[in-house]
This record gives sequence, C-alpha cells and structure tokens, in this order.
Amino acid sequence: MAARHGGAFALVALCLLELALRGAGAGDGEPLVPAMFVFGDSTVDVGNNNFLPGCSADCRANYARYGVDYPSHAPTGRFSNGYNLADHIARFLGFAESPPAYGSLPPEGIIGQMRSGINFASGGSGLQDLTGKALCGQVHSMSDQLDMFASVVQMMGNCSSDLVSRSLVFISVGSNDLFEYVGGNATSCPNRNDTAFLRGLVAAYRGYLQELYAAGARKFSIVSPSLVGCCPSQRSAGWLKDDLDGYYCFGTANSLSRQLYHMLLSMLQDLSAGLAGMNFSICDSAAMADSVFNSTVSAPNTMKVLDTGCCGGAGILGPAKCDKLATLCPNRAAYLFWDGFHPTETASAVAALALLADSGRYVHPINITRLAAL
Ligand SMILES: *[C@@H]1O[C@H](CO)[C@@H](O)[C@H](O)[C@H]1NC(C)=O
Ligand SMILES: *[C@@H]1O[C@H](CO)[C@@H](O)[C@H](O)[C@H]1NC(C)=O
Ligand SMILES: *[C@@H]1O[C@H](CO)[C@@H](O)[C@H](O)[C@H]1NC(C)=O
Ligand SMILES: *[C@@H]1O[C@H](CO)[C@@H](O)[C@H](O)[C@H]1NC(C)=O
Ligand SMILES: *[C@@H]1O[C@H](CO)[C@@H](O)[C@H](O)[C@H]1NC(C)=O
Ligand SMILES: *[C@@H]1O[C@H](CO)[C@@H](O)[C@H](O)[C@H]1NC(C)=O
Repeated sequence: MAARHGGAFALVALCLLELALRGAGAGDGEPLVPAMFVFGDSTVDVGNNNFLPGCSADCRANYARYGVDYPSHAPTGRFSNGYNLADHIARFLGFAESPPAYGSLPPEGIIGQMRSGINFASGGSGLQDLTGKALCGQVHSMSDQLDMFASVVQMMGNCSSDLVSRSLVFISVGSNDLFEYVGGNATSCPNRNDTAFLRGLVAAYRGYLQELYAAGARKFSIVSPSLVGCCPSQRSAGWLKDDLDGYYCFGTANSLSRQLYHMLLSMLQDLSAGLAGMNFSICDSAAMADSVFNSTVSAPNTMKVLDTGCCGGAGILGPAKCDKLATLCPNRAAYLFWDGFHPTETASAVAALALLADSGRYVHPINITRLAAL
C-alpha cells in the first residue's frame, strides 16, 4: 500500500507537498477542488458502518485500539491507528477535514455538506452486491453508495451539476471481492475461471462509473486493490493452502490483484474515450506494493515491519483481532500494516503522496493534482 520510501522520507516529503500545493494552485486555503466524494471499502470508510445497525463488530472499527493515533486518540470507525487514505488525500487537496460519513449527517445537513463533500464508503463492501454481507451482516454495497449519492444529487437539482463535475470522485474498492474469492471454495475448484471472475468485477466497476458520470461526475481517482495476498491475514491463509509467492504472501491473491489493475486500466481508457469530458487517474497499488516488498528494487525503507500488523501481531493462524486486549507495537511508523488487513496511518500517507504527486510510476495517466486542475 505504500511507495518505496519509508516513514522519515515520507514525513519530509509530505510537508513539502503541502507547502507546494498551498503555494501553487490553492491560494488562500481554497481546496484544489470544491468537493470530494468518497466511495468504497474500509480503506476509506470514515465511520459509515457505525450507523448500520446490522453491521457486526467484525466490520466496525469503533472500539480501541482503532484511532489510537487519531487527533482525538479515540476510535472513529476508521480502520487505522489514525488517518486513512481518504483523510490524507482530503488534507493534501486543502480541505481542513476529510469529508464526513454520510451516515453521521442529519437529514437537513446533507445538501449543505455536499458543497464540500461526503464519504459514502463502507468497510467490508466490494464491487459485487453480495460482498461483505455474510461476514458483516449489513454493509453499504457500491450500488447502495451510488444510490445514496444519486438521490442527494437529485435533491440538489441543477445546482449540483457544476459542483459535481468539478469535484473529485475518489474510489477505493475491490479488495474484499478478492478476499472472499480466494478465501472461499472457488480457488480449490478445479474448474475455476479467474478471468471470468475478474471480468465480472470490472464490468460492475464500469457500471458504477457510468452511473456517477450520469450524475454529473467527471473527475475520477481510482485506487486499484493492493497486493492483497501480502496482508498479514492472507500470509497465513497462503501458507495453509500451500500457495506462497516470492514474498511469502498468498500467491493466487497477489496474482489476481495484478491482473485486476491491468483490466481496470483498459476499462477506464475505453470508457473515458466514449464519455465526453471524463478524466481519470488510476493508482497501480499492486506495483506500489511490489516496490515495498521487493528488496531488490526498493530503496532503504524506514517502514521496516512488512509482514506483521502492529495491532494484534501474528499468531500461528494469523493475526489476533485488533481490540483493547491486543498487543500494540510502540513504533507505529515502522509498520506497513496496522492490523491483519489495513495499512498504518504512515503507510496510507505515503500512498496518498504518490496519488497526488507521482509522475507516471504508479499513477496513470495523470496524478490527482493534475486531475484536480483540469
Ligand atoms: C436550472 O433550471 C432552471 C429551470 O429549469 C433553468 O431556468 C436554469 O437555467 C437552470 N440553471 C442551470 C445552471 O442549468
Ligand atoms: C464450501 O464447501 C463446503 C464443503 O464442500 C460447503 O459446506 C460450503 O457450503 C461451501 N461454501 C460456499 C460458500 O459455497
Ligand atoms: C473463462 O472465462 C472467459 C470469460 O468468460 C472465457 O472466455 C474463457 O473461455 C473461460 N476459460 C475457460 C477455461 O473456461
Ligand atoms: C523482484 O523484482 C525483480 C526485478 O524486477 C524480479 O525479477 C523478481 O521476480 C521480484 N521478486 C519477487 C519476489 O517478485
Ligand atoms: C481528459 O479527458 C478528455 C476526454 O474526456 C481527453 O481528451 C483529455 O486528454 C483528458 N486529459 C488528460 C490530461 O488526460
Ligand atoms: C503531477 O504530475 C505532473 C505531470 O506528470 C508532474 O509534473 C507533477 O510534478 C506531479 N506532481 C504534482 C504535485 O503536481
């Protein structure tokens, strides 16, 4: 989930970037886009699942030790020790705060909040409507998230069109579909067809982007799933299935992540060629993760612990649940993973930096800074 440079470098670079962004486009604290709308899963959820009564504790992050490094030092529903990817992107764009969870807004506050952005993401969800439902009980699927967005846009009437077209749509989704596929029976089935599975995900994604376009969105930032087989939870799964790659990660899962990125890129190129005024920026998170895990290509990395989550550590059968009884590492910035599935605040910041400022290595065809300026 992170670029090739580690924590210390990242912190310096982040400060420089913030200064550069303030100096360049943004002017007197004006964000680079009027609003940011966030969709997807737990990599970007800022608390929506707290408002879903049927969502189980497995898919919530509203208890310690989540949030231990958040400004309030309290759990918020973010699946991180502090800020997540959506928070960092929002801050780099010049917003004082990340767009709030849709579920946290009073009905009378929703339209006003649209002017600077809303977060619809729901931990556990995926590209498929059913993803997350067995594990979590209740999640907002991507279809649900888009329905909520479309209904707010409709309520705003034609005041929305200019706002939505100039705003950033930020989407990070797909990992949970991969987790469920490799964790279920499909991969032990001799007739399994990975291509057909991945094509189904890409077709669903395409449909969501078309819906967003129809609602007025034009600027899309897409984060492809990272090497999901390298999450601490999946390393043990790969070991149990005797399916480990050169990083000692779950090989089939990583291979699916890499294939999915290339299919998403082609889909976006094709889609944007047919939709006037649509622009996109896609992050190849799998390539970014490769540069972290592959010591032959990575620079000396201050993010030293790559295989174990900070919270919950690593048991024989994988990491323990990250709750108040879990072990907690003292030096969070040295860890890539916060728990069995999610990056630390530092790792998310490094990824956010690349999304905003990378020149063609991981982000294609343009970075978010350029996308915002179009
Ligand atoms: C909004 O709709 C009204 C009534 O249909 C129309 O007169 C007006 O020009 C529209 N404004 C914009 C910005 O499209
Ligand atoms: C997976 O296989 C087991 C044993 O064959 C079966 O009981 C279970 O229902 C299957 N699960 C799914 C999701 O198909
Ligand atoms: C797998 O699915 C793809 C796409 O649906 C199809 O073109 C291909 O023939 C299938 N492969 C096999 C071995 O069935
Ligand atoms: C690391 O990168 C090198 C050079 O690109 C490549 O040959 C090698 O296969 C990679 N290692 C793993 C474990 O993927
Ligand atoms: C933005 O999209 C338009 C078409 O929708 C395309 O012609 C243009 O090249 C894109 N700009 C960039 C910088 O990718
Ligand atoms: C974004 O991409 C452009 C073009 O590749 C590059 O010139 C610029 O330095 C990158 N970073 C920022 C912050 O704009």
